[in-house]
Amino acid sequence: MTKDNELSRIGISLPKHLLDKFDDIINLRGYSSRSEGIRDAIRSYITYYKWMSDVHGERQGVITMIYDHEQRGLLTLLTDIQHEFMGIIQATIHSHITHSQCLEVVLVRGEGEDLKKLAERLMAQKGVESVKLTTIPIAD
Ligand code: NI
Repeated sequence: MTKDNELSRIGISLPKHLLDKFDDIINLRGYSSRSEGIRDAIRSYITYYKWMSDVHGERQGVITMIYDHEQRGLLTLLTDIQHEFMGIIQATIHSHITHSQCLEVVLVRGEGEDLKKLAERLMAQKGVESVKLTTIPIAD
């Protein structure tokens, strides 16, 4: 067996609601085990980050973000971050999904590195459930 095929065991702690949601998805998708689902999720995470690291040069993009507005201090924090990056933000659309969940779409344009920095800052905040950055290069 090569080193690449060696399996390592890890123990992780997750909030119950997160694990429940994950289990629902792996059941729906027919994974044979939770481990298989977690391996797949980690692969997707790595692919996404590789893709993110290819984002450079002048870009037009969209950041789609879902967050829990009941998370203490989160709204102010998200507004502060957006003001910090106002040079690359063209517009923001906010939609209330449920009593606690919000969807925000942020239209961005600028250096790919800066677009990524903004997406990563938003992603790192507690109460932010997901952040997706989609961009296209601006060709003259
Ligand atoms: Ni809202």
